[in-house]
Amino acid sequence: MVNKMKPATAHYLILGSFCLAFYSGCTSYKFLESEHHPRTWKKLFLVHHWPVTVCKMSENDCKDPPQYWTIHGLWPDKVDECNRTWHFNVTEIKDLLPDMRHYWPDILHSSPNRTQFWKHEWEKHGTCAATVEPLNSQKKYFGRTLDLYQKLDLNSCLLKVGIKPSSTYYQMTAIKEALTSVYGVTPKVQCLPPEEGEEVQTIGQIEFCFTKDLELRNCTHSEAESYVMPNNWHFGPEELSVCNDTLTYYPAQVQFYN
Ligand SMILES: *[C@@H]1O[C@H](CO)[C@@H](O)[C@H](O)[C@H]1NC(C)=O
Ligand SMILES: *[C@@H]1O[C@H](CO)[C@@H](O)[C@H](O)[C@H]1NC(C)=O
Ligand SMILES: *[C@@H]1O[C@H](CO)[C@@H](O)[C@H](O)[C@H]1NC(C)=O
Ligand SMILES: *[C@@H]1O[C@H](CO)[C@@H](O)[C@H](O)[C@H]1NC(C)=O
Ligand SMILES: *[C@@H]1O[C@H](CO)[C@@H](O)[C@H](O)[C@H]1NC(C)=O
Repeated sequence: MVNKMKPATAHYLILGSFCLAFYSGCTSYKFLESEHHPRTWKKLFLVHHWPVTVCKMSENDCKDPPQYWTIHGLWPDKVDECNRTWHFNVTEIKDLLPDMRHYWPDILHSSPNRTQFWKHEWEKHGTCAATVEPLNSQKKYFGRTLDLYQKLDLNSCLLKVGIKPSSTYYQMTAIKEALTSVYGVTPKVQCLPPEEGEEVQTIGQIEFCFTKDLELRNCTHSEAESYVMPNNWHFGPEELSVCNDTLTYYPAQVQFYN
């Protein structure tokens, strides 16, 4: 580990002052849809992942990961693989491909024509999300996910509150408080646990929750929603889990240890 532990105080101060200043700039989301179809799930997770951490978790060779948060998926809670006969068809999303490649890349398999990651996301999650009208085709599912991602604009908002990749560690509570103050909802943040002999976790995923009507909601669940999302896309031997309120590394580049 080359980085020395540094005080996180500076980031606290920066966060505090920037949050108020930029509050209004990052809140232009509101998705009004009202459809009334039978549904078996209650909320959607729009999952962003940090490509550098994804690379770090993988045994695969992963070169030059993007330096921005990319889409992992849009996942309904409670259900998966809802329609095994509704096959992924890349032709249906051909108009979206430039945006897909940029914002929803397969971090671990960089060939631009690989569609395996999108196929997996569609079959596992898209076929379930498709029970609501705004997401009921491949074009709508992928297109709406891209829209939500662009409306949330997580990359700009993180920069505006002073959270950027750094060799300095952050307090997880500061990151969570900043996100909550910017978006007005509690996201779910996932980390890679510390390496052997280390104490610092690494941020890996930021998930925002949406209602069935595609409105932003808190990720905190009510008593009735006690379901643990299985980790569905195995990158390697290591797994993400909900971050602890400890020092957190937000790495700028992949560093391989050992
Ligand atoms: C599953 O998908 C196929 C192909 O789109 C469709 O014809 C069928 O009605 C779907 N089944 C269910 C239960 O939604
Ligand atoms: C894939 O989608 C395209 C465009 O909608 C359609 O023409 C084609 O038949 C589909 N292919 C399969 C295998 O369903
Ligand atoms: C990748 O896809 C593009 C556009 O669909 C196509 O023009 C190109 O030939 C493909 N490349 C490979 C290596 O298949
Ligand atoms: C959080 O703490 C628990 C209990 O010590 C541990 O099992 C888990 O791996 C930690 N998670 C992370 C992301 O470090
Ligand atoms: C999210 O939770 C906070 C605090 O519990 C609450 O003030 C806020 O209204 C909730 N937001 C939404 C959109 O439910």
